[in-house]
Amino acid sequence: MTHVVTESCILCRYTDCVNVCPVDCFRMGSNFLVIDPEECIDCAVCVAECPVSAIYAEEDVPSEQKHFIKINSELTKKWPSITKSIDPLPEADKWKNVTKKLVYLKK
Ligand code: F3S
Repeated sequence: MTHVVTESCILCRYTDCVNVCPVDCFRMGSNFLVIDPEECIDCAVCVAECPVSAIYAEEDVPSEQKHFIKINSELTKKWPSITKSIDPLPEADKWKNVTKKLVYLKK
């Protein structure tokens, strides 16, 4: 099993999750982050770190967000690793409570 980054992360990308990952399983795109399902050891420490609660255990991903399981496994193959937090995206606080952000995901 793995953990999965879901929609709330899009356009926010706070990256607090990255610092606590013991296996460096995060991959970074321009406005989203994903978890490499091959690397994730299911420790769950990242879940509580995300200010917008974007990360779920695979089996707990809400039904309307299930497509993010595939999105994480696909994008992890093309995006570079990130192992330390960076600044959130400039308008993260503006977007943190917005839903239906998938249309803004830059792949
Ligand atoms: Fe995204 Fe939350 Fe990490 S917004 S970058 S999953 S801390």
